[in-house]
Amino acid sequence: MKKKLVVLSGAGMSAESGIATFRDSGGLWDRYPVEQVATPEGFAADPELVLGFYNMRRRELLSASPNEGHKILAAMEKDFDVHIITQNIDNLHEQAGSSRVLHLHGELMKARSTGDEALVYELDPAKCDILPGDLCEKGFQLRPHIVWFGEPVPMMPEAERITRQADIFVIIGTSMNVYPAAGLLDDVRKSVPVYLIDPKDVNTRRYDIHHLRMGASEGVKELQRLLTY
Ligand code: APR
Repeated sequence: MKKKLVVLSGAGMSAESGIATFRDSGGLWDRYPVEQVATPEGFAADPELVLGFYNMRRRELLSASPNEGHKILAAMEKDFDVHIITQNIDNLHEQAGSSRVLHLHGELMKARSTGDEALVYELDPAKCDILPGDLCEKGFQLRPHIVWFGEPVPMMPEAERITRQADIFVIIGTSMNVYPAAGLLDDVRKSVPVYLIDPKDVNTRRYDIHHLRMGASEGVKELQRLLTY
C-alpha cells in the first residue's frame, strides 16, 4: 500500500508562479489593509472594493501557471497517496494534476451567495469578475467563495482527519501564522517524519523537522529524491 503523504501548502507554494505571498515584504498585506479586503466587516463597509480586490487576484491567477513544485507533487501520486491541504485560493495544484486537494481558505474561481452559503458557483474564466448586482438564483448578492478572517473554516475537521492519518507530513511555503490551519501540525502523529520547504525560518515549534531551506520547486524536487531513492 502506498504511504500517505500529506502536504500543507501556503502562499510560498505559488510564489514561483508569480503570485505574491501575504507577509513577505512587498506582500499583499503590505499593499492592502487586511481588515478592509479580507473580513466580513470590510465587505459590509465597501463591497465594491472587496469584489475588486478579488477580481484582481482572479485575473492574476488566470495569467499564472503551475510551477515545478506543483508539478512534481502531482507526479508523486505515482508512488504516494498524496493529499494536499492548501491555504491557497488559487487552483494551481489542480492545474498541475493533483487529484486530492482540500482548500482550507476557499477558492478564487468560485462565487457564493451571501444569503445561502450552500449556493456555490464555478466562475467562467472568460467572464470571471464578480460585480455589485451579480445575484444568486435566490436573488442575493454574490461574494467570493473565500474564508475571511473571523469566519469559520468549514474544511478543518476533514483536514484534521487527513493529517492524523499521515505517514509523512510536508509543510511548504507557509509562515504558519494563521490558525486554525497552523494548528494542523499538532495533529501529526509523533512518529511521523515532518519536512519543511521554505527559504526562511518558520515557527513550527517542533525540533525534529527536516528543513529544506529552498524555494518550492527546488525543495519539492529534493523531497522527491529523499523519499523515493
Ligand atoms: N518557495 C517556498 N516558500 C516561499 C517562497 C518560495 N519561492 N517564497 C516565499 N516563501 C515562504 C515565506 O518564507 C513564508 O514563510 O512562504 C511563506 C509565505 O507566508 P505568508 O505570506 O504568511 O502566507 P501563508 O502562510 O500562506 O498565509 C496564510 O493567511 O492571509 C491569510 O488566508 C491567507 O491563506 C493565507 C493565510
